[in-house]
Amino acid sequence: MLVHAITSNVTYEFASDVHAGLTRPGQKELPSKYLYDDVGSALFEVISRLPEYGLTRADERLLRRHASEIVDRVAAPVAVVELGSGSGKKTRWLLEALCRRQRTFYYPVEISRSALAMCERELRDIDSISIVGFEREYLDGLLEVAAHRKSGQHLLVLFLGSTIGNFDRSAGVKFLAEVRRILEPGDSLLLGTDLEKPGTQLLSAYDDGLGVTAAFNLNLLARVNRELDADFDLQQFVHMARINHEARSVEMHLQSMRRQTVSIPSAEVDVEFMEGETIWTESSHKYAADEICQMARSSGFCCEAQWVDGEWPFAENLLTAE
Ligand SMILES: C[S@@+](CC[C@H](N)C(=O)[O-])C[C@H]1O[C@@H](n2cnc3c(N)ncnc32)[C@H](O)[C@@H]1O
Repeated sequence: MLVHAITSNVTYEFASDVHAGLTRPGQKELPSKYLYDDVGSALFEVISRLPEYGLTRADERLLRRHASEIVDRVAAPVAVVELGSGSGKKTRWLLEALCRRQRTFYYPVEISRSALAMCERELRDIDSISIVGFEREYLDGLLEVAAHRKSGQHLLVLFLGSTIGNFDRSAGVKFLAEVRRILEPGDSLLLGTDLEKPGTQLLSAYDDGLGVTAAFNLNLLARVNRELDADFDLQQFVHMARINHEARSVEMHLQSMRRQTVSIPSAEVDVEFMEGETIWTESSHKYAADEICQMARSSGFCCEAQWVDGEWPFAENLLTAE
């Protein structure tokens, strides 16, 4: 696989985001994109196989069952761009269906270099596929692919696994509108969305019995230690999942077990934590099935089709750029 590697100063950006997130007044926070270094991406793969985390299996069931129908509804010829592909495992069903119709260019866009490598290993055996990876933020990668599209070629953008849920609702619509601005009329977006479900089911999905999600979350502090020379004591923070009823989301936090000061030399800051204080690391918003068409319309798409899983409430939504 050809990979367009990232060129900007990643460590500087990480240090400045850590500084900003841990010194802001009120709730401390760290952007969820930093959960995905090599260790985080490997742990996310394990999470996606846990019995408590039905989301990935629901997404995969829908893609496997409806791949041909999805491909039939997409304008041809088409190239596929996947935002935050992860390992790309479940994308196989769509790509195989598409490659039966045409030679297919597939462009995974990822900030995690190890996820891009996993994705290539996972999908390179598909007949008639060419994979070109972009180690980029979502919109930077999409812009680059769109800038090089061939005349008459459509784009099918994949945003699977409910990654849209990491944005709050208004930021999610804004993000979809930015995707739409990069696309042309007739291009498509296949959007995965996790649907509302009982709180107990959500809490165990984000705080599994084996502690893999806890390790995934705590790895963010370990990453700050590794990359920014910080001295977080991982024994003194615990993973916490909680429901935010107003936002209709599950939040992940890291809670300080005692009053403590953490030094982060490469971010030029010492951070004080009170006992019980938390760092907010991720939100996962949940949707009502009929809310998604409204979000699509507000961002310049129309809803072409929606498929809902019968076992784990999850919707795959095919949107067309108007
Ligand atoms: C929740 S995982 C989903 C992975 C996969 N799509 C799935 O459904 O299983 C989000 C993925 O997006 C990537 N990611 C997170 N923030 C990103 C960003 N701002 N730009 C590009 N990739 C990002 C992560 O590295 C991770 O692989």
